[in-house]
Amino acid sequence: PVRAVAAMADQDPASLDALNALIRRSEPLVPGATQAVLGEGPVGATVAFVGEQPGDQEDRQGRPFVGPAGQLLSRAMAEAGLARDRAYLTNAVKHFKFEERGKRRIHQKPTAGEVSHYRWWLDRELDFVGPKLVVALGATAVLALTGKAVPITRARGPFRFERFDNRFQGFITVHPSYLLRLPDEAKAEAYAAFVDDLRRVEALAQ
Ligand code: URA
Repeated sequence: PVRAVAAMADQDPASLDALNALIRRSEPLVPGATQAVLGEGPVGATVAFVGEQPGDQEDRQGRPFVGPAGQLLSRAMAEAGLARDRAYLTNAVKHFKFEERGKRRIHQKPTAGEVSHYRWWLDRELDFVGPKLVVALGATAVLALTGKAVPITRARGPFRFERFDNRFQGFITVHPSYLLRLPDEAKAEAYAAFVDDLRRVEALAQ
């Protein structure tokens, strides 16, 4: 298994498949994950979505955004006219980190150090996919893409990820799991605002 990103950085994979093979062989930074969850979607996708890290379902199934937050994202994308199978979906961190509570595996937020450990992969992935627009879902994705802590409430909307020179446009919105955690009376409005953001994404991608 490949342990450190430093060991990967000189591997210079020539394709997304070669990069993914490296990710698949790498050890989780924090032990426990079943498997690495790779990005999903076509090379050349116009829009790429970056989430935080795989959750319980993603870890079991080995696919990004298949659990409750992913289902919410899929529904919102469909409402906004974005085809999920034509977008590229990935995460800042490729392994599930959790704490066991009885039978449940409770997601734990990745640290800034963990996010930077995985950043090399995310950058290479975006190089290979070559999207026109990258959507950061929540603060961890923003941290991965900018290297800085940026408050979502202030930065929400079109955003320039300077690290990438102008290779793609950026857009910041909330993470779908934030919508799931809101009190019931706040959910509908926050979901509508999320769908509005995705409609703007759809328009920018044209
Ligand atoms: N949350 C994420 O950020 N990514 C996933 O793949 C699933 C849930």
